[in-house]
Amino acid sequence: MTVSIRSEQPGDERAIRALTDAAFRDMPHADGDEGELIERLRVQGDLVLSLVACNSDKAIVGHISFSPVAIAGSEGKWYQLAPVSVIPSGQNSGIGSSLIEAGLDRLQGSGAAGILLVGDPDYYSRFGFTREHALTLSDALDPYLQMLQFEGDPPSGQITLAPAFG
Ligand SMILES: CC(C)(COP(=O)(O)OP(=O)(O)OC[C@H]1O[C@@H](n2cnc3c(N)ncnc32)[C@H](O)[C@@H]1OP(=O)(O)O)[C@@H](O)C(=O)NCCC(=O)NCCS
Repeated sequence: MTVSIRSEQPGDERAIRALTDAAFRDMPHADGDEGELIERLRVQGDLVLSLVACNSDKAIVGHISFSPVAIAGSEGKWYQLAPVSVIPSGQNSGIGSSLIEAGLDRLQGSGAAGILLVGDPDYYSRFGFTREHALTLSDALDPYLQMLQFEGDPPSGQITLAPAFG
């Protein structure tokens, strides 16, 4: 499926919620909160970058969010990638990869020091994410915590996600 990527616009909110709920509905790792999470990020002013993928009919078929992350002792701008979703019927055709690459390009171009995420290393390593870092989030999530650094010294220590993540 050929898609175009653009920033979220007013009026996209319901489609983003519906596609996120649908994408995560049957995922074993999902907590069912992902669609609402994006709305909390938006309301709290932490939806730093929100991109949608549109098909040839201009329907939204994918979405990705980035929010700020605080790292104790680090002055660079770090962001968390989460969540990323593709409609079930469009998965495994490159849409998620296009969204991730577009988001990383934009944030690197805007001076971000790097991106963090919690996810499957088998998937995210293809974009350059690594578990080789000295950051911590929680005992349960640390095995899935990955980093992609654009510039600066490697950060270390405890990270704090946007309040929407609870
Ligand atoms: C994960 C997701 C965003 C990937 O987008 P996509 O457009 O389907 O993926 P792409 O076409 O870019 O890449 C396909 C690859 O992703 C892998 N993949 C798909 N979903 C995956 C998942 N949930 N976890 C790990 N890998 C996944 C496929 O196995 C495939 O791997 P291969 O290239 O080695 O064969 C999408 O499948 C999705 O919305 N899944 C449900 C929600 C979700 O799990 N989000 C991520 C939470 S960390």
